[in-house]
Amino acid sequence: MGTLENKIAIITGAASGMGKAMALGYAREGAHVVIADLNLEGANAVAEEIKQAGGSASAKALNVANPEESKALVEDVVKEHGHLDILVNNAGIGLIKSVQETTPQEWDRIFNVNVKGLFFLTQAACEPMRKQRSGKIISMASIAGRRGEALVSAYCASKATVISITQSVAMAMAPYGVNVNAMAPGIVDTPYWKEVDKQFGEITGKAEGETFQDAAHGIPLGRTSVADDVVPLAIFLASAGSDYITGQTYNVEGGMVMS
Ligand SMILES: NC(=O)c1ccc[n+]([C@@H]2O[C@H](COP(=O)([O-])OP(=O)(O)OC[C@H]3O[C@@H](n4cnc5c(N)ncnc54)[C@H](O)[C@@H]3O)[C@@H](O)[C@H]2O)c1
Repeated sequence: MGTLENKIAIITGAASGMGKAMALGYAREGAHVVIADLNLEGANAVAEEIKQAGGSASAKALNVANPEESKALVEDVVKEHGHLDILVNNAGIGLIKSVQETTPQEWDRIFNVNVKGLFFLTQAACEPMRKQRSGKIISMASIAGRRGEALVSAYCASKATVISITQSVAMAMAPYGVNVNAMAPGIVDTPYWKEVDKQFGEITGKAEGETFQDAAHGIPLGRTSVADDVVPLAIFLASAGSDYITGQTYNVEGGMVMS
């Protein structure tokens, strides 16, 4: 029997990268996984892959930047399954731009998805979890939220805010037995990084893949990350093993940031 047997989980951005890896991992542990993504075709493909492997999953179209859609998604899931046990706020977008050149529109685009979207989906999920007096909320921060970067300022600010939201919601939900934590990955080889690598290249003139390779230098564990590296911690934070842990952000970055 898996550690997430009979649990209902929503994972945003689960059509790709780490969201997909976590969806496959949660399904292997027995959860029903709702794959919620802007990319419905990709979400359907991940749900199908899970079902082919004997797991349980469904796909839903979601633009997390729209709080109305987030509220409706949670209501639909609770109507269909009777409860919501786990929310993984994974959907996120990046921006490589100098401090001087970042526009208000770009700032809003990053914050609408990474911060506002995450906050209001969390707010919606808190509703059934408060009534149940149980639940697990896990958000994707980043080591970018632990330290500044000259060309990544809006994204860094958005991920630092994810760490802050995690602490506030953890305090608000602690009396209801809901655990709220976050993960901070480092340099993960996903489609997200391909786009980031391209944007860096446009500014610095570096060839394709060069920024990613450069980022690998100096990682104490000697390599960049793959999407599967976050899965064991994501399962732990969704399981009963984490019942006495809340408000924390865990680095999963090969030792890049040590304090
Ligand atoms: N890749 C890295 O190096 C890295 C490092 C630290 C943190 N992160 C964070 O981890 C999370 C996942 O990143 P990834 O690398 O797996 O990315 P990815 O690009 O592979 O996947 C992101 C998914 O989110 C979906 N998405 C984007 N905007 C959305 C929206 N408005 N509503 C719903 N879905 C949306 C995309 O369709 C995609 O399926 C992000 O929050 C990212 O900021 C990534």
